[in-house]
Amino acid sequence: MKAIIPAAGLGTRFLPATKCSAKELLPVLDKPVIQYVVEEALEPEGVDGVVIINSHEKPEIERYFASDEPFEQMLRSKGKDALADAVHEASSLPVSFAYQDEPLGLGHAVYCAANEIDDDPFFILLGDYFVPDRQMCVNMANVSKEHGGASVIAVAPVPADQVSRYGIIAGECVGALPGYDAQGEQEGAVWKVTGLVEKPSPEEAPSHLFIVGRYLLSPAIMDLLATQGAGAGGEIQLTDAMERLLETEEMYALVVDPAEGCDTGTPAAWAATNARMALRSDTHRAAFLEELGDAARELAL
Ligand code: G1P
Repeated sequence: MKAIIPAAGLGTRFLPATKCSAKELLPVLDKPVIQYVVEEALEPEGVDGVVIINSHEKPEIERYFASDEPFEQMLRSKGKDALADAVHEASSLPVSFAYQDEPLGLGHAVYCAANEIDDDPFFILLGDYFVPDRQMCVNMANVSKEHGGASVIAVAPVPADQVSRYGIIAGECVGALPGYDAQGEQEGAVWKVTGLVEKPSPEEAPSHLFIVGRYLLSPAIMDLLATQGAGAGGEIQLTDAMERLLETEEMYALVVDPAEGCDTGTPAAWAATNARMALRSDTHRAAFLEELGDAARELAL
């Protein structure tokens, strides 16, 4: 079973930093953002490979995951074994690549991996967000198991004035994740999805639950993406193909707390994520607070 990570975007929110390096390789502490997402993607039972949808403009992502033995040996010869191990670890992850060379939308990006999924259900993890405890996709897989292997997406409540930024679901709460006494829009509640709409106006939105960026989808979505026309913003939308999938298959949504994850989609969110990860790191916390100096007081840390 595969997990797909779309990573072909231009990274315009991070220009000029992303003029000649991929935004997916921006570090959070000492590791690139995309490695956190790859490690999260490999956590659910049965996932044995990650397909990164890249563009040919960003070969440095492939270079990062490729092995470089001379470099590792050089580090070892200087006694830097822990660093050599860290470099080696990235290249030992089961990562492969597919390509999207035209920015035609998320649905199109996912379809670029159609030949990689072996007609199995697969995960999609959007790459500008990662969940440090890696449990969100594991929980989604459990919901799917309880519902005969149906597609499952992660959703969360969003204020009415922000629905037009996201994909929004229609449906009703039908239960909860085992161990959760959740109802309605509470974390752990499980909804049966009856409709999906990409970037609706507040008046059109059928609920306040937005698609967070974690999907476990039936392989049938690929046939639908093959014929999916442009939708919101003139792009081929994954959400529109999922809406069509509902005609033939069931789909469920797990309500999650998005604050469990770390956003790296904008410079401010990325900076905050670095701060959060530094504060929870045994290695970096003390030095981080010292480096912050007076700014730590300003932040009331
Ligand atoms: C994409 C999806 C949207 C989802 C969002 C989550 O939108 O199309 O349904 O809610 O990611 O971040 P984008 O952020 O690419 O506009």
